[in-house]
Amino acid sequence: MFKFLLALGLASLLKLVSAQTISGQYDCMPAGDYTLCQNLWGESAGVGGQNSTLISTNGNAVSWQTNWTWADAPNNVKSCQYSYRLGTIQSAPTAWNWTYVTESEGIRADVSYDIWFGKAQSGTAASSASSYEIMIWLSGQGGIQPVGSQILSGLNIAGNTWNLWSGPNANWQVLSFVISSGEVRNFNADLNEFFQYLIESQGVASTQYLQAIQVGTEPFVGSASLLTESFSVSVSV
Ligand SMILES: *[C@@H]1O[C@H](CO)[C@@H](O)[C@H](O)[C@H]1NC(C)=O
Ligand SMILES: *[C@@H]1O[C@H](CO)[C@@H](O)[C@H](O)[C@H]1NC(C)=O
Ligand SMILES: *[C@@H]1O[C@H](CO)[C@@H](O)[C@H](O)[C@H]1NC(C)=O
Repeated sequence: MFKFLLALGLASLLKLVSAQTISGQYDCMPAGDYTLCQNLWGESAGVGGQNSTLISTNGNAVSWQTNWTWADAPNNVKSCQYSYRLGTIQSAPTAWNWTYVTESEGIRADVSYDIWFGKAQSGTAASSASSYEIMIWLSGQGGIQPVGSQILSGLNIAGNTWNLWSGPNANWQVLSFVISSGEVRNFNADLNEFFQYLIESQGVASTQYLQAIQVGTEPFVGSASLLTESFSVSVSV
């Protein structure tokens, strides 16, 4: 009886994996509390391809795998939209456990959070409603750099040490926390510690709204299979 149930479970898991891969430039699919999207905005400039496979969802956690071969093109996995004033957020716990299952020699890619603030209660990421793009780089390989220039180093926030980069992009400002050395493949933090630092030390108004949290990889060169064993985020006010 037990053997039968196990076999049934495996069969349905395999079916889920093969049925739930997206390959198109802007394909999205529901992934539990999140939306898994390709968002290959650089595709026309690059040569290569990419697939994203939803592996499972469990409560507010999601697991997926992204395989890419690129000369130049980023993608993101979008989470829910939010509409909370920064000053009202009590906590924003997140956990992201990821690994490169395969990785070619000399890849150029980051693995990061991409968080959007704006003056309006709601707004789409990277739009006219965006005031700030906050990135948290858990990994940056191949000498790639965030927008702008490095303005601070050795910041201790949420249990890790970061360098802070700042610069303009379109109509918003980009502030990027880059892990100071190595990579964090098992990240557990309260994002509110970053938000409070930005309010206290970087002049971000507490009246700004948190509009969206995205996570994913921006691959530029090489090929890799990035597996997210588990990702979750929640925001409490
Ligand atoms: C992604 O790459 C992994 C590791 O090579 C492989 O097992 C998996 O089948 C690939 N997925 C797709 C959709 O090609
Ligand atoms: C993505 O899937 C398509 C269709 O199966 C395949 O042709 C392509 O090689 C895959 N790309 C990667 C990077 O795995
Ligand atoms: C992900 O989490 C599991 C369970 O805590 C752990 O065994 C595994 O090593 C973690 N993987 C990475 C890449 O940190």
